[in-house]
Amino acid sequence: MTRQFICIDSLQNSLLLYFPICRILKSLADKARLLFFVFKIKANMREEIIGDCRLILSDCREVLPSIGKMDAVVTDPPYGLGDRMQGGTWGSKDKYSKMRLWDQSAPQEAINTLKDIGSHFIIWGGNYFHLPPSRCWLIWDKLNAVKTMSDFEMAWTNLDRTAKRFSHPVGFHAYGHPTEKPLSLMQWCLQQLPEACGTILDPFMGTGTTGVACVKRGQKFTGIEIEPKYFDIACMRIEDAYKQPDMFIEARALPEQLSLSST
Ligand SMILES: C[S@@+](CC[C@H](N)C(=O)[O-])C[C@H]1O[C@@H](n2cnc3c(N)ncnc32)[C@H](O)[C@@H]1O
Repeated sequence: MTRQFICIDSLQNSLLLYFPICRILKSLADKARLLFFVFKIKANMREEIIGDCRLILSDCREVLPSIGKMDAVVTDPPYGLGDRMQGGTWGSKDKYSKMRLWDQSAPQEAINTLKDIGSHFIIWGGNYFHLPPSRCWLIWDKLNAVKTMSDFEMAWTNLDRTAKRFSHPVGFHAYGHPTEKPLSLMQWCLQQLPEACGTILDPFMGTGTTGVACVKRGQKFTGIEIEPKYFDIACMRIEDAYKQPDMFIEARALPEQLSLSST
């Protein structure tokens, strides 16, 4: 596994991103934090190539027009719940208070551009977006959801197959992201896609859970994340995933080894 660092051009439109959100935010403190957040993105924009994964630290709206075609888009975008996930015993923690910055509204425009990029789609929180009717919704039944959180989450897909449910407790956010998805859930998502899907895009990568699932299945992954802290965690997780190949990858490599020993 190789790792390569590439510096890319900074965001051209970072201030265009600032002003619309700034109008929604009421307190001066929130506006100042947003300004800091926007400049932090501008200063840090970069790209890392780790094995078969391309990780981009950027606003996906800037990168998506030139990202190229992918077999599938598997993503967990902001649902626009930043203001709702506040207060209470856990809502006042730093990781939830920062959600107001990146989860202010559901990014419908970015979701619209995805249709020109992917062939197959799994979009968590699909019920927060304007998407066509679908036969195959995927449901994550959280089993242990608390009263103030949803009992289940829904992913919209364009797959021509029956709707499916995955039952798994919410668990512990091991990497400090307030909306981190369980790895087993994202592995299950990849299993729902046609076998031929070799290239996967997640434009709202967070801590890289989709990417780790791709590495474990031997699929090529492109991930985009706007927040440097989560981007760095994603890089670390994906590098670690390559160091710990699982049974699935070994099983795929087996036929090659057999043909070697028989020559
Ligand atoms: C729901 S979280 C994804 C969490 C991820 N599934 C995980 O397991 O860590 C959505 C992520 O999208 C990122 N984000 C929000 N707006 C973005 C944008 N315009 N471009 C790229 N990333 C963005 C946020 O920083 C956040 O980490």
